[in-house]
Amino acid sequence: MQNAVIDLHPMQPEHLEGAWALSKQAGWPHRLEDWQMLLGLSRGLVVLDDARSVVATTFMTPYGDNTATINMVIVDQALRGRGIGRLLMTKAIDLAGDRECRLVATEDGLPLYRKLGFAESGEIFQHQGPLAATPALPADVNWAAAADHAAIRALDQAALATDRTALIEYLGAHGRLAVLKAAGAVVGYAAIRPFGRGEVIGPVVAQGAEEARSLLAFLFASRPAGTFLRVDLDGQSALADWLASLGLNHVGGGIAMQRPVRLPRAVSSTSIHRFALASQALG
Ligand SMILES: CC(C)(COP(=O)(O)OP(=O)(O)OC[C@H]1O[C@@H](n2cnc3c(N)ncnc32)[C@H](O)[C@@H]1OP(=O)(O)O)[C@@H](O)C(=O)NCCC(=O)NCCS
Repeated sequence: MQNAVIDLHPMQPEHLEGAWALSKQAGWPHRLEDWQMLLGLSRGLVVLDDARSVVATTFMTPYGDNTATINMVIVDQALRGRGIGRLLMTKAIDLAGDRECRLVATEDGLPLYRKLGFAESGEIFQHQGPLAATPALPADVNWAAAADHAAIRALDQAALATDRTALIEYLGAHGRLAVLKAAGAVVGYAAIRPFGRGEVIGPVVAQGAEEARSLLAFLFASRPAGTFLRVDLDGQSALADWLASLGLNHVGGGIAMQRPVRLPRAVSSTSIHRFALASQALG
């Protein structure tokens, strides 16, 4: 494909099998259903070769009108180093319009993202493994009711400074949401859904690490020992050692990046934080 025109198309459902093959080639655990979820929430792009096979992918997942994540940037191993990744990223940034773009970079992606003006904003710690021990069921955490969804959306918006209604509705429909309440009000939430080799817990949004731990403990307690679980922690936290003690070891992660760079906020405008991501793709 070197020096040839790159055959770029909007991603359609018929491209998902080919896209899935690329993520398997990259060693990523996504199932076909995980690609379907991303396509449902995002605008995707594919590059096709002369045989109409998918040889590169990416998604732009919009959150409201101020933020987007760019994810699943994959180029077939045999075609790397020819400018396809750069073209896909440029088109995805165009699709995002005026939105701030966020992503979680692999080592492969870092040089490209830096060149395109992304700056590092944090680190993601991926924990996973078969659940080896079940923590005690915490008080004050329960499965969310439909009436809790508005409060969940508001908490998520306070933590992420963007509107992730579509993602939260998907998580409620295809996974399960749990809420932590204090004096009858929702003060934290977490989601669990099937993903990759088992299930992923995230987002986890709460005021502090203790509250986040309660939400995680509730979801762990809902699963039989041996269930393969994954949690992508947002930055260093006291939760890491605890997760490892339950069988979810630190196995890698990525670098959180954003573009354009926001001015650092001297004082956080909210006391609500994201402790775990929905996934590295979705933030
Ligand atoms: C990351 C990836 C998409 C890049 O795709 P690609 O088609 O090889 O990228 P390009 O050929 O467009 O290269 C883009 C730029 O990054 C640079 N670059 C790429 N890999 C690099 C590396 N390992 N070290 C230094 N620079 C690198 C290239 O020199 C190029 O710079 P230029 O445009 O100024 O010449 C590809 O390596 C890949 O699919 N990796 C596996 C999946 C993955 O990790 N994706 C990232 C998810 S966050």
